[in-house]
Amino acid sequence: MCGIIGYTGVKEAQEIMLDALEILEYRGYDSAGLAVCGRDGCVRIRKCAGRVKDLRLLCEKDGIQGTCGIGHTRWATHGGVSDANAHPHKFGRVTVTHNGIVENYQDLVQRYHLEEKLKSQTDSEVAAAVLDHFYGTDPLAAIRKTVLKLKGTFALSIMFDDIPGVIFAVRNVSPIVIARARSGSMLASDVTVLGQYSREYFVLPEFYVAVLKEDGVELYDMAGETAEPEWQAVNWDVDRSSKGGYPFYMEKEIMEQPQVIRETVIPRIQGGIPDLSEDGIPDGLLADCKRICVVACGTAMHAGLVGKALMQSLVRIHMDVELASEFMYTDVIVDEDTLVIAISQSGETIDTLEAVKHAKKNGAKTLAIVNVRGASVARASDYVIYTNAGPEIAVASTKAYTTQLAVLYLLTGRMAYVRGIFGAEEAKAFAKELMRVPEVMQKVLDRKEEIHYIARSILNAQDVFMMGRGLDHAILLEGSLKLKEISYIHSEAYASGELKHGTIALITEDTPVVAVVTQEKVKSKEFSNIKEVQSRGAGVILFIKETFGPEKEASWENVFTSVFTLPAMEDGFMVMPASAALQLLAYYVSLDKGLDVDKPRNLAKVVTVE
Ligand code: AGP
Repeated sequence: MCGIIGYTGVKEAQEIMLDALEILEYRGYDSAGLAVCGRDGCVRIRKCAGRVKDLRLLCEKDGIQGTCGIGHTRWATHGGVSDANAHPHKFGRVTVTHNGIVENYQDLVQRYHLEEKLKSQTDSEVAAAVLDHFYGTDPLAAIRKTVLKLKGTFALSIMFDDIPGVIFAVRNVSPIVIARARSGSMLASDVTVLGQYSREYFVLPEFYVAVLKEDGVELYDMAGETAEPEWQAVNWDVDRSSKGGYPFYMEKEIMEQPQVIRETVIPRIQGGIPDLSEDGIPDGLLADCKRICVVACGTAMHAGLVGKALMQSLVRIHMDVELASEFMYTDVIVDEDTLVIAISQSGETIDTLEAVKHAKKNGAKTLAIVNVRGASVARASDYVIYTNAGPEIAVASTKAYTTQLAVLYLLTGRMAYVRGIFGAEEAKAFAKELMRVPEVMQKVLDRKEEIHYIARSILNAQDVFMMGRGLDHAILLEGSLKLKEISYIHSEAYASGELKHGTIALITEDTPVVAVVTQEKVKSKEFSNIKEVQSRGAGVILFIKETFGPEKEASWENVFTSVFTLPAMEDGFMVMPASAALQLLAYYVSLDKGLDVDKPRNLAKVVTVE
């Protein structure tokens, strides 16, 4: 949460930072600000509550010239949304931007007698004050002393008044990546923003200090010894970070799914069989574990639920899916026989990261399914499989989710094969069906206007219920989250059989119900459950596998509010076309309500605080 940017070089820093902050805004959009070291050597700040576009207006009226600066886009934690609480914060000779939470900030306020001196309610300004307290003439010593006093998580970018043209950075847990740009040096919270400036970056190691200058970057450990950065290539196209002509990133990312699923799956099919050897996943890891436990949050956790249904039915292995945020506090049993799979688009979700560390301490083997290369969860895990979704900018996750599913299919197929449950022919048939996903999903995307039409029927709903059984229920949990987060309609996904144990009391003619029916083995029970809600007056929008329908579609007209037929795959793979349809449903509701689809209120793309 919170986006950090820094640039020092030969170009105007303000312009570079404003452009970068617009991309980074998905990390938080409560306020934005920047500090630039002017040509006269003075650091000046522009900041405001609101979006980066508001900051841009401010800078257009009263900009700051200079070639070194730090910027920030905030997701508020300590201190409300206000101009004063916007970053950067300047205290004495020190200016900082901060991502994370300084948990002991109140102790620090007392210890350094800051009560009357602070201008904001943030923990971040306290970090600036402590830095100023320790700063004599040696910036590295001041940073070292300060980080020893801070408890919690932090990514700090720092400028000192008397060291113009230089940016310092240090972090614990919260991410910072650093790049050699063509015209100078840059730092950012994530690599998404760096692609257009540089092809080379490194992840700042925790408790190392980076010193960014116009002509290069130096790295020091806590003892003040120089260290060598581990440079890596930026592997994301600049194009993938743009909207590509779509009104919102979310639509673009939904439409990219066939391509990115193909890019995730095809390199991992060898001789027609799922094969993870290029990812360095030993077959023994999959053959020997006795239990699987997924740790993840939000959408990634929903991907885990689909994985669980697949693994349990095809591999017959015990699998749990744990909310990463609860994992450490609920005494979940993991041991050396457990394979813990951490799923995360960003690879920076703090709860998922902490869950991985906790699992490792308990002897479990850990495998990460991550989208962002080199992200913390990937580095903390024993093994990693990258989803090739490319940058996902919209806060609502779409292509990251379906590429996570694609990896879970690959894992399931490989695991069934190495355990002898699948023979070569079955493994090939499984892989063949998986490779059909992009073309089948494309058929749904080609009919997006049909779903746009259906979306209009729930535009004014206060509450929506979603019902399905088995895999259909797992998909609906995600479909329901998607609808809530971007349309602000209260929505709940229910296992159809559970409705009558309480929730059916809420069903009236004013509560539209979305039903998904794609699984042959529960189809007839599902239809009985649909009748139960219809009998209570609810209008039902039905997403159904095309081969399940009555012979004449006209016979549906009086029975359902709308029907969308999903192109057929084997039941175990129907998750994919159904997911695309539900994503589009949520998207069009949000679009037609005139909401900011990509940046829903109160949310941030990357959740780096507990
Ligand atoms: C997705 O639509 C959500 N905004 C959110 O639930 C997200 O999936 C969750 O925060 C986990 O993020 P991660 O995949 O980056 O770990």
